[in-house]
Amino acid sequence: IPVETFDLVIFGGTGDLARRKILPGLYRRYVAGQIPEGSRIIGAARAELDDAGFRAFVAEAIEEFVPAKARDAEAVARFLEHLHYVSVDAKGTTGWKELGKLIRKDVVQAFYFSVAPSLFGDLAERLHGNKIATPDSRIVVEKPFGRDLESARALNATLAEHFAESQIYRIDHYLGKETVQNLMAVRFANILFEPLWNARHVDHVQITVAETVGVGGRGAYYDRSGAMRDMVQNHMMQLLCLIAMEAPYQFDPDAVRDEKLKVIRALEPVTPEDIVRGQYRASKDTASYPADAENPNSTTESFIALKVEVANWRWKGTPFYLRTGKRLRARASEIAIVFKEVPHSIFGDEEGWRENVLSIRLQPNEGMTLSVMIKEPGPGGMRLTEVPLDMSFAEALGEDGADIPDAYERLIMDVIRGNQTLFMRGDEVEAAWAWTDPIIAGWEAKGDKPKGYDAFSSGPEDALMLLHRDARRWREIAE
Ligand code: BG6
Repeated sequence: IPVETFDLVIFGGTGDLARRKILPGLYRRYVAGQIPEGSRIIGAARAELDDAGFRAFVAEAIEEFVPAKARDAEAVARFLEHLHYVSVDAKGTTGWKELGKLIRKDVVQAFYFSVAPSLFGDLAERLHGNKIATPDSRIVVEKPFGRDLESARALNATLAEHFAESQIYRIDHYLGKETVQNLMAVRFANILFEPLWNARHVDHVQITVAETVGVGGRGAYYDRSGAMRDMVQNHMMQLLCLIAMEAPYQFDPDAVRDEKLKVIRALEPVTPEDIVRGQYRASKDTASYPADAENPNSTTESFIALKVEVANWRWKGTPFYLRTGKRLRARASEIAIVFKEVPHSIFGDEEGWRENVLSIRLQPNEGMTLSVMIKEPGPGGMRLTEVPLDMSFAEALGEDGADIPDAYERLIMDVIRGNQTLFMRGDEVEAAWAWTDPIIAGWEAKGDKPKGYDAFSSGPEDALMLLHRDARRWREIAE
């Protein structure tokens, strides 16, 4: 889909997210021919820089975060010509006139608020006060979108004072991941899965997002959040929604988001027995969670596992087990749909029998595997064995598949195209907090302390029990 000429302002243009993701992502889209020549990318931040200084900053970011094979000196030079910089004070008057002069009213306008949420109101006010924003401008905001229902409502209200919902793009970068979108393609472009996609045939679902990194360097933010707020309320919730939702009547922003919202509203409250929280210990070479968080008495979780039910006709009786954590065995994210037993085994080989599992790997090695039972080869009679029907997206799609765009690249281009399908609507975020708040309040009320777990393990022992007691087991965390 062609992209119109645009002016994109990045507030927080010299920040970490801009440097790591937004600006390198824009460069890659430029190389892909998706940035029309007349477009401008305008960095706006407090730092005293000029265009040349900002261009040098962006050149370094590209050098650091774009792989060498995707870098081309000439293309970088041409890309840099699209960049401008204005030094702006979000809480004052500096820079707003200059910004107003640089932004055109006859092209697509987008403002990326890559700043602390406490500045959203100031930015929105000044964009209007200085007559920069128009009724067609788009604004992009990042997580954390609040830390509970009350603060999320307040943020929504602040933005709503100045912008219509159709102008607000709330990023959850998991929705920009190629495989996450593939979930929708797999479910709704194939007839194969739908008849089995319900509590009659699915025994349970496991969603794992495992990371090897610790929280060192961002401990101050993380210690106030923990895995529940940092990963479950947003990224894992989105994955759960895409698995559990009904087919939208079309692939349209509100149709998709209406269906996701229904899933969130159908989530049962989670009782304390169905939650395991953990905190990583030190290893030979890495520090413990409390040391990384610089808070020796921290009771924040760096790991969480929980069991949740979706109370509707499709899913009643099929638990969803969610698990995420830092400093785990491998960086591996997977959704596994574990099917039920056959109604009656005619082979009498209960030993060899395994359930069918559809596993969707989000990262690394994006792909899908369906495990099926076949006969073990040879003359030894009807012995069963499990084999994978395995598909790596990169292999299956050849060159194009190997060059999967980063989540941010896709999402930023969707903002310019004016497509909100992969962005969270205000009511969705609030519903997610409404489910999350009582869970957190529950453990806070009883002064729950997370269980220690060894760095680079699969998490605390108790997390294994969460499934064992239901006669199930977690899938291995492996790349
Ligand atoms: C971020 C979280 O939103 O997502 C981080 O704040 C986490 O704690 C990250 O590490 C994971 O993203 P990805 O794309 O690396 O899986």
